[in-house]
Amino acid sequence: MNDDPEVLKESNAPTPSMASEYFGTTSDGDSIDLFTLENDQITVKIMTYGATVTSILTPDKTGKMGDVVLGFDRLAPYLQEHPYFGSTIGRYGNRIAKGKFILEGKTYQLATNNGNNHLHGGVKGFNRVVWQAEVITEGDQEKLEMAYTSADGEEGYPGNLKVRVQFYLDSGALHIDYFATTDKTTPINLTNHSYFNLTEGANNILEHKVYLDASRYTPVDEELIPLGQLAEVSNTPFDFLAQPMTIGARIKDVPGGYDHNYVLNGWDGNLNLVATISEPTSGRVLEVLTTEPGMQFYTGNFLDGIPGKQGRAYEQHYGLCLETQHYPDSPNQIEFPSCLLVPGEEYRHTTIYRFSLDTSG
Ligand code: GLA
Repeated sequence: MNDDPEVLKESNAPTPSMASEYFGTTSDGDSIDLFTLENDQITVKIMTYGATVTSILTPDKTGKMGDVVLGFDRLAPYLQEHPYFGSTIGRYGNRIAKGKFILEGKTYQLATNNGNNHLHGGVKGFNRVVWQAEVITEGDQEKLEMAYTSADGEEGYPGNLKVRVQFYLDSGALHIDYFATTDKTTPINLTNHSYFNLTEGANNILEHKVYLDASRYTPVDEELIPLGQLAEVSNTPFDFLAQPMTIGARIKDVPGGYDHNYVLNGWDGNLNLVATISEPTSGRVLEVLTTEPGMQFYTGNFLDGIPGKQGRAYEQHYGLCLETQHYPDSPNQIEFPSCLLVPGEEYRHTTIYRFSLDTSG
């Protein structure tokens, strides 16, 4: 990768290339591959364990490439319990109260792995399975496709669910397209759990400035289960719409820190720009576009010094997650947009993480 900003500017020809290397072996003997997606503006690494994004390199305002997501250098720590660094999350991202829901007259009991509740797909969610990778070409676009079939009854969910997640680059952006089909009606809520830190993990994210295109959020109880109503953000510490605000400005007024689902404005199933995060010392800007109705805005509240890349300790608030999704507990909240996938239909979700620079600061 060339570090010289002049050279970066001049080389406008897209030069996609997708290499893969061996990353390690799981305790079940599965060999895990790490793929590199690269162009002249961004380099992304994704492995087959958990369809996990392990690194995203983007330039800072001096042209120096740096890694803007948290994670580990090796496979081994990813195989242990960890806070979903870069993971693909499913079958249902976020919480389902008591792990229980009623569907077509039948009560389903899912695995409970977050106190009384179900979180991020259960004990062995999509973040802890091995995906089948294939490099596909559509037009002149190379994509990394990860596929996984979740069996009927897995973690308590109904139906054999066939999932495909496609990752590809376009200029400075990482595109993620999710597809799924089922043979029984099932709740589904796929997302990516990358922890972003635009200072490359040198500092916490409290000085990151945030704009969220959401007038409302879903207030939660003490177990982070939505209460049901949608509350206005205006005149509360949840307001990132009236003007961009640093995370640190009001985080003390949010007990526990931000870990809330925002109700995205103007949701119509098409791609919408929903968030802009900027960090002045690096000059980096991250925009999020999605087709989803909600986004969990999580400020790494539970990080407590876990050793990450290059021996760096990830303390509280060292990363922020922008988990585009359906609202938490949707299977039990009839007023929320439906998260049900029925046989014969296809689940589709696109999210784009687009990086650029603001050199004015
Ligand atoms: C999600 C949840 C958080 C936390 C993290 C993982 O973002 O909303 O409460 O569980 O995952 O640590």
